[in-house]
Amino acid sequence: MLIKSFDEYKQVYDYSIKNPEKFWDEIAQNFYWRKKWDKVLEWNFRDPNIKWFINGKLNITENCLDIPAKKHPDKIAFYFEPNHPDEKSYSISYKELLEKVCQAANALKELGVKKGDRVAIYMPMIPEATIAMLACARIGAIHSVVFGGFSAQSLADRINDAECSILITADAGKRGNKIVPLKQTADEAIKSTHSIKKVLVLKHTGESIAFDNQRDVWWHEIVPQQKTFCEPEVMDSEDMLFILYTSGSTGKPKGVVHTTGGYMVYTAYSFLNVFQYEPNDIYWCTADVGWITGHSYIVYGPLLNGATSVIFEGIPTFPDAGRFWQIIDKYKVTHFYTAPTAIRSLEAFGTDIIKQYKLDSLKVLGSVGEPINEEAWEWYYQNIGKGKCPIVDTWWQTETGGILISPLANITPLKPSYATLPLPGIIPVLVDDKGNEIQGNNVEGNLCIKFPWPSIIRTTYGNHERCRQTYFSTYENLYFTGDGCKRDQDGYYRITGRVDDVINVSGHRIGTAEIEDAINQHPDIVESAVVGYPHPIKGQGIYAYVIPTKEIKDVKLLHKEVNDLITKIIGPIAKTDVIQVVSGLPKTRSGKIMRRILRKIAEGETYNFGDTTTLLDPSVVDEIKQAKLKSELR
Ligand code: WT7
Repeated sequence: MLIKSFDEYKQVYDYSIKNPEKFWDEIAQNFYWRKKWDKVLEWNFRDPNIKWFINGKLNITENCLDIPAKKHPDKIAFYFEPNHPDEKSYSISYKELLEKVCQAANALKELGVKKGDRVAIYMPMIPEATIAMLACARIGAIHSVVFGGFSAQSLADRINDAECSILITADAGKRGNKIVPLKQTADEAIKSTHSIKKVLVLKHTGESIAFDNQRDVWWHEIVPQQKTFCEPEVMDSEDMLFILYTSGSTGKPKGVVHTTGGYMVYTAYSFLNVFQYEPNDIYWCTADVGWITGHSYIVYGPLLNGATSVIFEGIPTFPDAGRFWQIIDKYKVTHFYTAPTAIRSLEAFGTDIIKQYKLDSLKVLGSVGEPINEEAWEWYYQNIGKGKCPIVDTWWQTETGGILISPLANITPLKPSYATLPLPGIIPVLVDDKGNEIQGNNVEGNLCIKFPWPSIIRTTYGNHERCRQTYFSTYENLYFTGDGCKRDQDGYYRITGRVDDVINVSGHRIGTAEIEDAINQHPDIVESAVVGYPHPIKGQGIYAYVIPTKEIKDVKLLHKEVNDLITKIIGPIAKTDVIQVVSGLPKTRSGKIMRRILRKIAEGETYNFGDTTTLLDPSVVDEIKQAKLKSELR
């Protein structure tokens, strides 16, 4: 499966595009299937209806656990590094991980979980989060991981949408100086749900929590006494593996559905080739399992390759801004995969702190989640990689399941801020707003993918039409990514950012509509419009224009109240950076807000707003602009 040179990449790519079914058939042979597939692929992007490895039977955890545990039982699967360096770190071998997953799986069975049931997981970044996910997969239950930073309401919405019957959580989590009261938030969430029958609670921090003896079950009272083997449920290739919620342009977050066989093949293949992982390497991805990066490149991709990974509960700046570098030295990390926002925030602490560490184990650096600007790229390359580690700038999405455009480490010639070239099997195309394909190089357009790959989104949970509308209806016969993209003279791809109403804050995807809905619940606000603007650390910041019901005397106070409300409804990641009180919003005669103009004002543009002739009342633009200028002068 491993590509070893740039020439080989070009050959493999060519072959994969000409014979996609043969190509993926050959890759899929590398895994353990209870029964092989009858047919590699059936698809259309119209419905959409996409099926890979048809009638194949397998359990992904056999490939993640049983196979490596047989091959190298004592090899470390995970090193756990706690929040504070003085707390206890430990490691889990493949054999131990298999046993722990089986015990958790047996406990879930005892709690009544059956194949096809949905299980919500709301956990800190600790090995049990991964164990819980794999335990679900072991018994054919569908996991829905909810990031621990989300609010009670966000958790409740996700539980309700998928009608989860069980919630797995912990008393609390630790993030730097902060205790994250997961159980308390979960209790609050469950009040507005109807499907949860049992809550499995891990004792992690020892925080005192409310405990409902009818409903809540302690992890330590039910998991450790289970048998250390659990017969894997045999799944169909297209049986659901998990649901993961993500934000879009409109409405509430949708549950992206990934299925078993294709997801397994693609995450394993892409992990191996992008990172060029070798058997003794130590890999560390700093993401949280609450995001797709955690699913594909902390849990499934690395385990499917028998890799050794680091799991870290804490944050980059605690107890100081050297924490990442200290962990790299401690475990002799060879592969380090993080987000541009983390790099930019650590850059601000200067290089003295880095000089205290060797960082000489590093071989490959990775970047994910948002465009990495050239300056951050250079800083990362020189100061962390010491000019000798390639940076794999990996472009992908929750919906793509795995990395689609990225350099292969030490193989693809790099260009700062370019995700470079597509992986085998991936056919990117750029289209203009009418959907015409833009041919040739030195061009820019909307990024679409022309042919399915094994880990492409299958549906949005409970609402297939929404999946069709969002991804497959904008341009006929294409999967639309929502990103803008350039293709340079060498055919290299550079992602320029979202072209829809989605903002990418610190690598987290948030829909402007979601934020507006939260803001509009403030009693003094009638209407709002939210846009992203360039932010030096977060990539994009959140700028909110609000129309009040009455004169606002204290804008600072209003800003605080709005952010408290957003924290309560969505979570702190969606807090606004700037709030501007306005008397009106630039709307077209049909009532549509012209966000393009609001974006320009937020960016500091004072003159060139493009065509404003369709505006109902062009004078509001001037008013908003003047008010912004005035507030900046103050
Ligand atoms: C959006 C997907 C994929 C894991 C994390 C985010 C942006 C992601 C890159 C990159 C430029 C990137 C895109 C994409 N994005 N990686 N390397 N360069 N932009 O997953 O939450 O589904 O967000 O993140 O805008 O559409 P996600």
